[in-house]
Amino acid sequence: MAIKRLTSGVPGLDKMIEGGFVKGSSVLLSGTPGSGKTTLAMQFLIEGALNAGEPSIFISFEEGLELIRENFIRFGWSIDDLERQGKLVLVQKDATLVGALLENELGQLQEILERVGAKRVVIDSVSVMNESSDKVDRQTLAQLVDFLRSKGCTTLFIHERSVAAVDEIKYEAIDFLFDGIILLSRMRTGNSFRQILRVPKMRYTKIMPKIVPVQISDKGVAVYPEMSVFE
Ligand SMILES: Nc1ncnc2c1ncn2[C@@H]1O[C@H](COP(=O)(O)OP(=O)(O)OP(=O)(O)O)[C@@H](O)[C@H]1O
Ligand SMILES: [Mg+2]
Repeated sequence: MAIKRLTSGVPGLDKMIEGGFVKGSSVLLSGTPGSGKTTLAMQFLIEGALNAGEPSIFISFEEGLELIRENFIRFGWSIDDLERQGKLVLVQKDATLVGALLENELGQLQEILERVGAKRVVIDSVSVMNESSDKVDRQTLAQLVDFLRSKGCTTLFIHERSVAAVDEIKYEAIDFLFDGIILLSRMRTGNSFRQILRVPKMRYTKIMPKIVPVQISDKGVAVYPEMSVFE
């Protein structure tokens, strides 16, 4: 069966990953604080809901839904219609209940996924999941990854990483669970810093191995694969 790809909705990113995310894959979107993870993930959902006929779900373990809505609106995406039409669903979960989510609520998650017919899912973030309960270990996360894969959802799992230096990144156990990894970080070039993006891993995909510049503007996150971070 031919591999299908989903456009990311992030200008420039598809060129780095052979046209888009592999349908049904689970990708770790990992980065330093404020590097644009949530915004990039929202763009992925909007692209699906608005342009690709793919209903989308945003599951937040962090920010409240009002802040999330405001962030969508800040970038010019009027999400009211999408929410009313059931094309975009925002769900908030208490981080302290993550263990419960996985133990008791997979059924509830399944119910939401089926009701919405979700094709794209974002989980913001799995770092909170890991910290909030010692019960939520790698194995439980693997279970969630498998579950979403089995439902055919293409999922971005947001993950906070403390190491900013892009060539000093230590791979963690969590990295091996996912089909792909996208790293967002910043790099010092001369006397200033630049936001950058790199794709260290994407199964079934020819990836562009370059470190590329990222721009966050009032239109959201864009990457520039033709440009160089180093002058
Ligand atoms: N209109 C804008 N123009 C330029 N940069 C912006 C704009 N709006 C937000 N930003 C920047 O975007 C970043 C926040 O993006 P986002 O919330 O997606 O990051 P994040 O990686 O999810 O952060 P966190 O780790 O706090 O969850 C901040 O660094 C902020 O300065
Ligand atoms: Mg965020």
